[in-house]
Amino acid sequence: MIVITTPTGQIGRQVLDRVLDSGEAVRVIARDPSRLPARVRARAEVVPGSHGDAGVITKALAGADRLFWLVPPPPFGHPGSAERYYLDFTRYRQVAVADRQAAMLRRGASQAMAQAMADMTEAQNNGIYDAEPRGPDSAAATSFRQWCHDTLKPAVQP
Ligand SMILES: NC(=O)c1ccc[n+]([C@@H]2O[C@H](COP(=O)([O-])OP(=O)(O)OC[C@H]3O[C@@H](n4cnc5c(N)ncnc54)[C@H](OP(=O)(O)O)[C@@H]3O)[C@@H](O)[C@H]2O)c1
Repeated sequence: MIVITTPTGQIGRQVLDRVLDSGEAVRVIARDPSRLPARVRARAEVVPGSHGDAGVITKALAGADRLFWLVPPPPFGHPGSAERYYLDFTRYRQVAVADRQAAMLRRGASQAMAQAMADMTEAQNNGIYDAEPRGPDSAAATSFRQWCHDTLKPAVQP
């Protein structure tokens, strides 16, 4: 049994389609099950609610052995930072890189893929994304939000 989150989203719905095609038993978590296509409602178990709710996840994971997990994008106009939204939505437990690598190999990943993921994780843990401080020389002068306001909005709303 595989549990799939965001079954109505662009990514989740494609994952769900492929899993249904494979014949695998599927359970989806959906805030509004009426938005699910008839094919999904006929073939998947549906747990109503948000996967941001621990009680819903506990219910959905009963007897399942795999999970497709996707943190939904923050709603437009969300007041806080994207990072805060992600951290608030996601519960996680850090595992040692070597343990994760071993788990990937057990689940059929190639040696090269497991090594690549381990190397990437080590690099992130060692601050590879912080190597170049954000400043006027390394970042665009305007944020994406500002560009939407100044350029895109006037272009599409004359
Ligand atoms: N699509 C791409 O090509 C792409 C590429 C790179 C990265 N990403 C990233 O991947 C993430 C998701 O992408 P997506 O394109 O699949 O998103 P999407 O099409 O906007 O779908 C969002 C999904 O999340 C669900 N959702 C929204 N808020 C929720 C909440 N509070 N609790 C539970 N479910 C909630 C929606 O369900 P409802 O039906 O209940 O609203 C919907 O199923 C985003 O962070 C995006 O930036 C997407």
